[in-house]
Amino acid sequence: MTDLHRHLRERLLAALDQLGTPAAEAEPMLRLDPPKNRQHGDVALGAFQLAKHRGEPPPKLAAALAERIAPDAVVESAEATGPFVNFRFRRDALAREVLTAIQSDSPPYGRAPRSGRVVCVDFSSPNIAKPFHIGHMRSTVIGNALCRIHRHVGDEVHGINHLGDWGMPFAKMMTAYMRFGDEAKLHESPMRYMFELYRRYGKAAENDPTLDEEAARRFKALESGEDNEERRMWQLLRDESLKAFQGPYSRLGVTFDHVTGESFFEDKMEAAMQRVAEASVLEESEGAEVVWLKEQGIKEPCILRKSDGTTLYHTRDLAAAFHREAQFHPDRILYVVGAEQKLHFAQLKGVLAKMREPIAGAIEHVPFGLVLSKGPDGKWEKFASRAGNAVFLDEILDEAVAKVRQIIDEKNPELEDKDAVAEQVGVSAIVFNDLKNSRIKDVKFDWDAMLNFEGETGPYVQYAVARLGSILRKVDRPVPASDRVDFALLADAENVLLTMMEFGNAVQRAAEQSEPSVITGHAIALAGEIHSYLVDHYVVGAEPAVQDARLVLVDAARRLLTTSLGLLGIPAPQRM
Ligand code: ARG
Repeated sequence: MTDLHRHLRERLLAALDQLGTPAAEAEPMLRLDPPKNRQHGDVALGAFQLAKHRGEPPPKLAAALAERIAPDAVVESAEATGPFVNFRFRRDALAREVLTAIQSDSPPYGRAPRSGRVVCVDFSSPNIAKPFHIGHMRSTVIGNALCRIHRHVGDEVHGINHLGDWGMPFAKMMTAYMRFGDEAKLHESPMRYMFELYRRYGKAAENDPTLDEEAARRFKALESGEDNEERRMWQLLRDESLKAFQGPYSRLGVTFDHVTGESFFEDKMEAAMQRVAEASVLEESEGAEVVWLKEQGIKEPCILRKSDGTTLYHTRDLAAAFHREAQFHPDRILYVVGAEQKLHFAQLKGVLAKMREPIAGAIEHVPFGLVLSKGPDGKWEKFASRAGNAVFLDEILDEAVAKVRQIIDEKNPELEDKDAVAEQVGVSAIVFNDLKNSRIKDVKFDWDAMLNFEGETGPYVQYAVARLGSILRKVDRPVPASDRVDFALLADAENVLLTMMEFGNAVQRAAEQSEPSVITGHAIALAGEIHSYLVDHYVVGAEPAVQDARLVLVDAARRLLTTSLGLLGIPAPQRM
């Protein structure tokens, strides 16, 4: 909340108190949001809930409130329109409050003090025996942004990589390696080589049932806990995969607080199963141990132990939920995983709810759509199916960087550090493209669109930051402290200022709804507003008092855009 909002809230609470509703009652119902149309005002109060509480029609309350909020040093006007009250702030007060807060990095523009909330973000979590595919990139990029957004609003965040390093998929890889593997080739290029093995296994298993049998046997041997051939193989394949993932992770600016993969729960599953049994929800079904969730409208049972005694993906997720509960006491556990695992997480939550475990309420699946690419016939199709090949993430990143490098060579051949800038811009183009629409939508992977410096892209926002920086460098005078400028001189920058003011709401919404697209949208809007403002408000060559005011504005826009990019995990190059 900004000081302007706080001031207005206090006045509204006082007015409501006069009308007979004490502040303690009114407080939770008092929501100030930007109106749908900026012409109507800067913020609006919908009087529905309050009016209902007071037992009167909303328009009546709206009119009574508007009448009681007389103009002051901050509020310019209050007008009732039907059930809404629309407020306008004085332009100099708006500029002072927003720009001073941005300059001093105070919340919501800077990081908030501790909120007391704890959020676990389970993200990326590739299966290490399979290629790191484009779907995992989405989880990695969205999860990384969510960690950063929650930290910004003051939450204690635990970013967790729940690696798929256990279970049957892993056992199959192990079997493939033992049958046809070659250690030298593995070390040479672990990801590609494992992908080769993965495909070879798939083909061979079609005609040879002994492969799957062997895999099941080997998984059982691995789960025995003994120090055997399987365990050594597991260690080798896990180490090699983790090393290989480090490349894309560091290029994407992603780090984890905990890398606790499925194998981490090896010795924690028995206790979890015990707990399920004690809650009397475990049933036997054809030799397997399952929890039925029909009463919750879920037809398929959640299988927690197979008839051969081995555990499953679900067993590990259940143990992980208990572990996280004990370790972190989270208010929310966000599982950033593709929409195709909807049933899995509904079952996980369902089992915990059936057990009456409070942690059930914290489980939130954060699903997302597919990545699509244009097929030969011009139709959008699932990316990974392209020519039946895996698409390796590092190759995609390399391609983006090469394309940006080419653009720089054409547009700005004099630029210093071309390679470093191309890396930052190329990777960001992909990241921004992934985050810019609501996450449940499919992402269209279209090079021209995502590299367009004038479209709604990462390069566009990065370019805006670089351009603002170059204005500040050209003026070659320090940006004045915001208390030394005449804010009345920024009266016609209201669109920039109002967009800036919406930032706090945007971050809040992004955090609540797990939607980084709210931040990309805000960044695009702000970049557009400051760009339009600068078309007919020059900084270089303006007279000193005007220049000072505009310097503060330009610097604030640069800072806020840099912050937004930071929340998305995107760097902002000084020049490009
Ligand atoms: N490894 C899984 C996959 O690639 C995703 C794991 C998601 N996290 C979880 N706690 N289940 O499909």
